[in-house]
Amino acid sequence: MHIIPIASGKGGVGKSLVAANLSIALAQTGRKVVIVDLDLGGSNLHVILGQMGSLKGIGTYMTADDVSFEDIILDTSYKNLRFIAGEAEVPGMANLKVTQKKKIINNLLKLDADYLIIDLGAGTSIDIMDFFLMSGRGLIVTSPTLTANLNAYLFLKNISFRLLNNCFPAKSPGGQYLTKLKKDGHSLQKVYIPKLVDQLYKIDPENSNKYNDIIKSLRPRLILNLMEEPKDAAKATKLRHSSREYLGLDLEHLGVIYRDDIQIKALNSRLPVIKYKPGAIISQAIFRIADKLIEEEDTVDDPLLNIDLDNSFKEAELEAETDFESRMEYLNDLLYTDNFSVSDLIETVKSQQYEISQLKKENNLLKTKLVNAVKSGFIV
Ligand SMILES: Nc1ncnc2c1ncn2[C@@H]1O[C@H](COP(=O)(O)OP(=O)(O)OP(=O)(O)O)[C@@H](O)[C@H]1O
Ligand SMILES: [Mg+2]
Repeated sequence: MHIIPIASGKGGVGKSLVAANLSIALAQTGRKVVIVDLDLGGSNLHVILGQMGSLKGIGTYMTADDVSFEDIILDTSYKNLRFIAGEAEVPGMANLKVTQKKKIINNLLKLDADYLIIDLGAGTSIDIMDFFLMSGRGLIVTSPTLTANLNAYLFLKNISFRLLNNCFPAKSPGGQYLTKLKKDGHSLQKVYIPKLVDQLYKIDPENSNKYNDIIKSLRPRLILNLMEEPKDAAKATKLRHSSREYLGLDLEHLGVIYRDDIQIKALNSRLPVIKYKPGAIISQAIFRIADKLIEEEDTVDDPLLNIDLDNSFKEAELEAETDFESRMEYLNDLLYTDNFSVSDLIETVKSQQYEISQLKKENNLLKTKLVNAVKSGFIV
């Protein structure tokens, strides 16, 4: 079973959209797919998948004694796709006990499926990180904004530290070194993981080898969503460089998805966008990602040998350009036909205004952070 957890760091960048549509795309190829909503505290996949009514999900399983895990694996209206809801029925499951988390993971690992797609919540809680680490090949969804990329980077950084903590038990020489480092939060901020790993190797070679083995099979895959124009693709390259340089972690680019207003219409019609309009650029982008996953099926166990990471970035840039051209052609068609109505114009202006207000908010947030950093002497 290929396990594909989907995380982001920042919220609202399209994890659930990717999870739902990708699952359907994979299921359409005849593969058996299970999609699980592990965004506990903010479950909404049931809505995106059009599964209404009272749904037994993870929340029910965790709280009711007479509900087995099999009971919460629901059929969907899509062939080959089954669904496990989050806490649609029993809210308030945001924090799991370690035993509960283990129970969920063990049950998921026993599923009979070709793909297990895991929709995660935003942020970097330990639960989210542990679900993400069920596979070395999870997806990171990000958007071209600075905060989204910063959050994606911080997510990866926290993942690296989670692995370090797992590999160097508290009492081991490496573990003691890490504890000392953590007490001095300031130096932890600036740490280069590759340098830290070199240092750890000197004092704790045995556990360092363990870490190196695990990190070798960690090859997160990136999706850049909500693109506006081809030059946005460079944001993914930046994220890749920072991850490589500071975390010693290389990423693969799985593809880009442009912001597409058709998604709003799909939402209103309660259909996942690839079902609402399979030919739309956004839907085609999702099918393209599904194809790449399928192409990589045989290489999953050995990511280091087979995947040309540089090429994955070049390919994504090319896709960004061709999708943009198709979009421009579409707009051109609209402009020169009578189909471009006043309401279309209003919709376009509205979405741009929304974008501007989001950017303003981000700008203010960054300004505040900068001022605080200067005040605390972090930046001179
Ligand atoms: N490419 C896109 N074009 C247009 N709208 C999009 C696109 N991607 C996502 N959206 C919209 O953005 C909103 C957020 O998407 P989604 O819920 O998938 O994000 P998320 O990362 O799962 O959020 P959360 O962190 O809250 O779980 C939704 O309304 C979705 O329809
Ligand atoms: Mg979501």
